[in-house]
Order: sequence, then C-alpha cells, then structure tokens
Amino acid sequence: MVTRPLKVLNVVGARPNFMKVGPVHRALEAAGATSVVVHTGQHYDAKMSDVFFRDLGLPEPDHYLGIGGGTHAEQTARVMMAFEPVLEAERPELVLVVGDVNSTLATALVAAKRHVPVAHVEAGLRSGDRAMPEELNRLCTDALSDLLFVTEQSGLDNLRREGVLDEKVHFVGNVMIDSLVAALPKARATGAVERLGLTPQGFVLMTMHRPSNVDAEAPLREVVRLLQALAARLPIVLPLHPRTAGNLDRFGLRDALAATGGLHLVEPLGYLDFLGLMEAASAVVTDSGGIQEETTFLGVPCVTLRENTERPVTVTLGTNELAPLDADHVAARLDAILSGEEGEGEVPPLWDGHAATRIADVIVGWHAGDAG
Ligand code: UD1
Repeated sequence: MVTRPLKVLNVVGARPNFMKVGPVHRALEAAGATSVVVHTGQHYDAKMSDVFFRDLGLPEPDHYLGIGGGTHAEQTARVMMAFEPVLEAERPELVLVVGDVNSTLATALVAAKRHVPVAHVEAGLRSGDRAMPEELNRLCTDALSDLLFVTEQSGLDNLRREGVLDEKVHFVGNVMIDSLVAALPKARATGAVERLGLTPQGFVLMTMHRPSNVDAEAPLREVVRLLQALAARLPIVLPLHPRTAGNLDRFGLRDALAATGGLHLVEPLGYLDFLGLMEAASAVVTDSGGIQEETTFLGVPCVTLRENTERPVTVTLGTNELAPLDADHVAARLDAILSGEEGEGEVPPLWDGHAATRIADVIVGWHAGDAG
C-alpha cells in the first residue's frame, strides 16, 4: 500500500487561535508534513487579525473564507458552508482545530461529516457553564475529534469522565506557551511600556470582552466603576475589544471613561505589544481564557472576572484567582496583590515551549500507524 504524504489543514478564525496554530504549523513542517492554513475570517479587523500573522511569523493563510460577524448560528453556518469546498479541494489527512471559538466547532463538524479525522488542540477544558458559547464549542468539538491534545490535568480528567478513549488523548502541554516563549525577547524590545508613558511594575493591564460582562448595561456600568476604582490606585491600560467598544457607545458610557484620569484606553494591541505589557504589569485584570494561562507562565498576578474557569490549573498552581464583577471586591484584591501579600505561582507541567513538537510527533506517528 502506498502511504499518502501527510497533509494537515490547520484552521484559525479568531484572535485567540493565531498564537496556537503558529507553533503547530512550524512543527508539522519541520516533521516533513505539509501544513495548510485556513483562516475563516471570524475576526477580520487588521488589529484583531493581520497584526498577529506578522507578530507570530505565520505565513499568509492559504485560504481566507471572509466570514465576519453575525449571530452564532449565522457565523457557524457560514464557516461550515465556506469550509466544505476547501476541504474537498485540499483532501487533507487531518483537520487540526484549536481552542473553542465558533470556527473551531464549525470546521470540526464539516470534517467529521466528511470522514476526515479531526485533531483538537486544547481539548478537555471545561468550565461547567453551558451558558458560555465556548463551553458548547468545546464539548462538541471534543466529541467529534480523533486526536485530543490536552494542556492540563483537568483536561485528562474531564475527557475520561466523558468516556473518551484513552488512546485518543495526548497530554502534550500548552502550545500558547510555545508562542510566548518564542516571542518574549521580541516583545521586550517593542518598548510598548515606555510608549504609553508607563513604568514596569507600575500599572495594571486589563481586558474585558466576555458577553456576560459587557453585553448588558448593568454589568458594563460595573466595569466602568471598576476601571475608575482601579485607576485611582495605579495607571490602567485597557485595549478595547470591538464588542466592548460597541457596547460602551450603545449605553453612552464612553464619556465616563474619557473623564477617568490614569486610564489608557487603547485600540486592540498586537501580540508582541500586549505580551510586553503583560510581563511588565503589576497585575492583570481580565475575563479572557488564554490570558489566565499566559500570566501564570509569567508569574504575574491575574484576577479573572468570571464565576468559573475551564483552566483550573491557573488557580491551583498558577497566579490566577476568580472574582465576581464587583468593583469594591476587585479593588480590595488589587490592594492585597500590590502589598505583596500573595504567594508566587508555579508553572504547570509541560508548559515548556515544546508542546507543538510533541503534537507533531503524535500526528506523524498516528499517520504512519493509520496508513501502515
Ligand atoms: C470570540 C470568541 C471568544 C474569544 C474572542 C476573542 C466565539 C464564540 N467567541 O468572541 O471565545 O475569546 O473571540 O476576541 O467564537 N468584531 C469586529 N472586528 C473583528 C472581530 C469582531 O468588529 O475583527 C465585532 C463583531 O462584528 C461582533 C463583535 O466584535 O460584533 C464580536 O465578535 P465575535 O467574533 O462574534 O465574537 P467575540 O466576542 O470576538
């Protein structure tokens, strides 16, 4: 039997995907595979997408699907419809998806229905909160996947509990940390801290975009109150996600922010600028998924404004803590952090910059076994 050469179709769609696919793409090519990159265009603004390709040294995508925004159903359906002909034309041995965005689930579903094996990077993470769109994407993507690459122990436990066969599951570490380790020297050289007139360890970096925190007026007002409370203590940098920016306008809250001294409201930042700021921050306040992991690796205290996390190792071993969206509570937590009361965290196992190589090794071995 002739073994077909290994071709992997890697899918990226939204901002948190780019730093995960970069290292995998390079490791696959280094292992002799052909790695094709498909960008769904779920995120399309230059500041939400193009800059990441530059910062991460990603090649131009081989296919750009131009999906854009819309309701979850619209976005998911459009990705599915646009992805199917690309899959047909490329005929890969494997479709590799990362994370938990709508593009992840949409492309995994198309591939599985076309009997193309699916690999999921960052499998097994569970917040237990089905009101989060990402949780549904995680559950369904894992159910469709043939190779499940796991970043932390909880992922192994969750998949076992859900009855996923052990032989499909591979504990490989965290590819986002691969990108971070590779980019850190360049990130330090960008001078983003000085450009904003800040001093290292003299400011707080904040991000806020989750629908539960910014889509309705009451929580968004509390976010504004929180920003005011924090800015009274230390300079705050807040790169504004388009969702948050739109809602601040919709609820007429921009002026309140403009009048807040010490608050640097900036456009979404590129990967290197953001990483440079994160490493130099006294603390990070966020509702992101990935930032909980990056701060844990960097040893920077992180307060995550969510009721749950799908990345519990960042709390048990790392520097992360969960907090309610309550300005007084978070301000008190920041005071405790700034006074040095908090202990240092630990870097979780296999978050060492080599996860993508492990993934490529598993894929090459799987392909050899499958074809042989
Ligand atoms: C998506 C992911 C979320 C991830 C986040 C990071 C899902 C379900 N959610 O949420 O897990 O944490 O990305 O950013 O996939 N918009 C722009 N320009 C862009 C992209 C979006 O203006 O480049 C606008 C959209 O039109 C929409 C809003 O921002 O109004 C939200 O975008 P969308 O892709 O629906 O979801 P995110 O909130 O970004």
